[in-house]
Formats: sequence, structure tokens, C-alpha cells
Amino acid sequence: MSKKVLLSGVKPTGAPHIGNYFGAMKQFVELQNDYDGYVFIADYHALNFIQNKEEMHKNIINILLDYLAIGLDPKKITIFKQSDILEHTELAWIFDTFTTMPYLMRAHAYKDALGKNKEISVGTFNYPMLMAADILLYDVDVVPVGQDQKQHVEYARDTAEKFNYIFGETFKLPEPMIMKDVAVVPGIDGRKMSKSYNNHIPLFASHEEVKKCVMGIVTDSSGGIPKNVFAIHSLLRPEKELLPIYESKAGKYKELKELLIEDLEKFIAPLRERRKEFEKDIPKALKILEEGSKKAKIVASKKMQEVKEKIGVNIYEK
Ligand code: ADP
Ligand code: TRP
Repeated sequence: MSKKVLLSGVKPTGAPHIGNYFGAMKQFVELQNDYDGYVFIADYHALNFIQNKEEMHKNIINILLDYLAIGLDPKKITIFKQSDILEHTELAWIFDTFTTMPYLMRAHAYKDALGKNKEISVGTFNYPMLMAADILLYDVDVVPVGQDQKQHVEYARDTAEKFNYIFGETFKLPEPMIMKDVAVVPGIDGRKMSKSYNNHIPLFASHEEVKKCVMGIVTDSSGGIPKNVFAIHSLLRPEKELLPIYESKAGKYKELKELLIEDLEKFIAPLRERRKEFEKDIPKALKILEEGSKKAKIVASKKMQEVKEKIGVNIYEK
């Protein structure tokens, strides 16, 4: 039996944090053995946030090194770059033509942007349609993402259904895959860990950075178990093992934080080392990406031919 297909993307908007890792990236590595998969760099999604040539360029290379360092193996999973494959934006346009504005207005990401009273770009508004195209081009079965992306995967599903209804069976319906235990990784202030809240612990943090972040974890003065410290700690060790330690050291916030620093360091140090190795040969990493894009392109353009046939724009005799 052929393997199921998995796909996920990460925006190159800056260094990943442990929330991205436990919420999404780690799953890619674990799943690459059991699925045929794609992990891609969503640079055209990132363009909504990063409009600076040097920064975009640097972020793309960094995220590629990050993926390789966490253990993605190009022999098992295809790593590619969204902007290398024109079919993504092309299909997003086709989806736009039958997607209504009120439907897109229900997107959490759009509502959040409205709430911040920002002028919203068409690209931001349209984000779910580009993401639907990312997914649907590859006949994907599962999309491993954090809880906050679940709605976007549902948009992709709805869009597939709508297209299939209008033009005939074309797209497979994808399922989101959310890791239950760590659906939302909390940040050092207890809110969702996010780059935009600046409450994050970088995945490749130096020892000094780890110390600074952990010492900055917000605690209350109840003298019991420091909730935010415990929540982050439980990503690294089973709660069963941690609880007796936290109970015996109730109120000793500094000691507990030092323990967390130690465990974080044990977890991060090998990742940091692997990343340094990949950094030494960037042309090799870029070659991996280029090859991945070539492979993905074959699949995407085949699907796109089918789409063009279904919508009636293929008129030339072959
Ligand atoms: P950020 O909020 O820091 O900008 P992104 O939106 O770039 O993070 O998210 C990248 C991926 O990591 C997504 O799949 C997202 O669901 C996941 N993710 C981000 N933050 C968390 C978190 N705190 N807990 C779990 N998963 C997360
Ligand atoms: N929107 C996702 C995020 O913000 C990134 C992304 C773009 C994605 N296209 C995707 C994730 C397709 C999964 C599948 O994290």
C-alpha cells in the first residue's frame, strides 16, 4: 500500500522558537518515516510581513538550515520553496474567483489583524486561499500544524469541496493533524508562545539566551508550583516525573528555573551543534532545496494541468 501524503509549511519570518518546534516542526521529523511528505518554506506568505530583500533572503536560508538541523532528511521528505513553484499563486487566483469576501472575513487571522486596527493588505486577507493552494496541489492527506492553523486547514478543505462541486472531483480533502498534548505551547509570560508577543525561547538559543529567557519567566507570589515554569518544563520531561520535583521544591522558583535551564540546555545543545555543521556548507543546503523544488514542481504542474482542463481554459490540441 502506498504511504499517505503529508505537507506543511513554515513562514521564513525569523528564528523558530520552541513553540514552533513542539507545536509543529518536531512532528515533521517524526512523521517523515511513515509518510510521503513535503515541508516547504512559505516565502510568499512571509512577504505579507517581510518586505525587505536582505531580511527575506537571510530568513529563507536560515529556515532551511533550521529544518535540516532538526533532522529533516531530504531522502525521506521533499523540502522546497513556495516561490519556486508558480502553480501555488496560480491556483490561489482560481480559488479567489469562487471564494466570497464574507467567507474570508471569518478567518481568525483576518479578525486578529482587524482587531489590531491595522490596514490589511489584500495578501493578508487572501492568505487562506494561497494556503489552500499549497495544500491541494499535492493531494495531501494530513497537514501537521499547531492549533492556531487548524482553521486554515479547514478553509483548504472547504475550498476543495467547493471546487469539486463546481468543476467535478479534482482535489483530495486534507485533514489537520494537531498534537494534543502540546496544542498550544505557552510563552514565558503564560500567553501563547509567539514571536509577535516576544515571549519566546528560540529553538537554537545560546546558553546565555536560554538563561535570560528562563529567568524572565513570569511567576506569581503564591509560593506554590510556578505554573509557567512547569508548563515549559513539561515539554521536556513527563509531568509524572516533574510533579514530585516541583512539589518538593514548591516556592523555590530560582532552583526550579535553574533545573529548567539545565534541561533546556541538554535539549538545545545538540540541535545547535548540528546547525553549525550545516552552516559550514550553505551551497549544499541550497542544492537540497533546489532539488526538492524540482520534485515538487512535477507534482504541482500535473495537478494544475488537471485543474486547467476542468475549468475549461485548456483549448489547444495536444
Ligand atoms: P509565531 O506565532 O511565533 O509567529 P508562526 O505563526 O510562524 O509562529 O507558526 C509556525 C508554526 O508553529 C505553525 O504551525 C503554528 O501553528 C506553530 N506554533 C506557533 N506558535 C505555537 C505555540 N505557541 N504552540 C504550538 N504551536 C505553535
Ligand atoms: N500559515 C502557516 C503558518 O503561519 C504556514 C503555511 C503556509 C502552511 N502554507 C501552509 C502550513 C500549508 C501548512 C500547510 O504557520
